[in-house]
Amino acid sequence: MRYRLYNIDLCAGSEDGASLPFIDDAALLTDDGVITYAGPASDAPPHDCREVCIDGRRRLAIPALANAHTHAAMTLLRGVGSDLNLNDWLTTAIFPAEERLSEDRCYAGAALGFLEMLRFGVSACADMYMFMGASARAAADTGMRACLARSVVGDDSGDGGRLAESIKLAEDWHGAENGRIRVMLAPHAEYTSTPKIIRAIRDAAVERGLGVHVHMSETMAEVEGCKARRNGLTPPAYFEAMGLFDAPTLAAHCVALTEDDIRVLAARGVAVCHDPVSNLKLASGVAPVPSLLRAGVKVCLGTDGAASNNTLNLWEETRLMSILHKGVSGDPSAISPAQTFNAATLTGMRAMGYNNVGLLKPGWRADIALIDRSGPHHQPLVDPAADLVYATQGSDVKLTMVDGIVRYDDGQYPGLDALKVYESAREASRAMLE
Ligand code: NI
Repeated sequence: MRYRLYNIDLCAGSEDGASLPFIDDAALLTDDGVITYAGPASDAPPHDCREVCIDGRRRLAIPALANAHTHAAMTLLRGVGSDLNLNDWLTTAIFPAEERLSEDRCYAGAALGFLEMLRFGVSACADMYMFMGASARAAADTGMRACLARSVVGDDSGDGGRLAESIKLAEDWHGAENGRIRVMLAPHAEYTSTPKIIRAIRDAAVERGLGVHVHMSETMAEVEGCKARRNGLTPPAYFEAMGLFDAPTLAAHCVALTEDDIRVLAARGVAVCHDPVSNLKLASGVAPVPSLLRAGVKVCLGTDGAASNNTLNLWEETRLMSILHKGVSGDPSAISPAQTFNAATLTGMRAMGYNNVGLLKPGWRADIALIDRSGPHHQPLVDPAADLVYATQGSDVKLTMVDGIVRYDDGQYPGLDALKVYESAREASRAMLE
């Protein structure tokens, strides 16, 4: 299928995060999921009768966003256990409800999560949870680009077959759906596994060329517990000692880091997923993002699950990443709009292993969002980069294309019955919470 998006403005993203170029009156052409032209309308190739033409109505085309840490099916638990800290929230509210999860319920929750992300211009997510075969089917059905990982926990008695399940998931789904679905291995966190399990995951990841997705240093309590358990090592130092970072690693949260931790993450190319809304809501703290960026660490953005956020609207993280660190550091130049936008797009895609997604340029996959800038909160549009990061609302997203296919179009999900997805999710949620 060929598309021509015409009558648009364009922000193609930038490789280095130094600046964000904008083009007024542009065109975007795609062929079979690949961008073939992105630039001024005046230089676009002539119309071809095989193209499907979409009038962009002067909306802004941007690379679709990347949500680099979430638990999609936790949409089923949205609003559950509000106003508790991480430990109490997990043990008293979340884990008991998750006992009642099933394949079908996870499918319903993941499908709802993917529709919510597509609605906000997010084309890709790193989803770590359980019953991930259901999540894979939901990604295939909704068109979401999804990097899936079965969360592995365990104790001295073993991991309950979870690593084997993860490897099966990779065999069944890694690279499926034209490369839209990828699989990573996921030790849930230091505090939920043993050295033997971490080592087994590390070996399986390296042997199979898979990435690793892990929760790391989310709270100071986690770091203190880790030091007590692991001969004084912090979670990054412990994982480094275990060789885990020999696999490309995506580490979520990284709130409580030392200077040494930051050096290790930079040296080993570990991508850090910053989840500011979840960290604030669970009172976990604020990650040292300006220090990470200064050290050259790859920082991307995530919502975490809907149960600790409570939405999957990555525009909130995008705005918050910029303003939170200015406020905490006292430095209004701590993070630029271009750096934030890179975290929300290109860096997140790369952290998930999507190496040709996240910029709008020829040869790259067509993951595109169209932003309506006609509302009062976008006027008078003096600085388009500042406007994009500080003023855009998730509801301004009018169209989301994933891999060259329109998956969200102004309230509709082409080819999909959204109301049925919502109803299935409500039923699944009721059954888990009754
Ligand atoms: Ni998480």
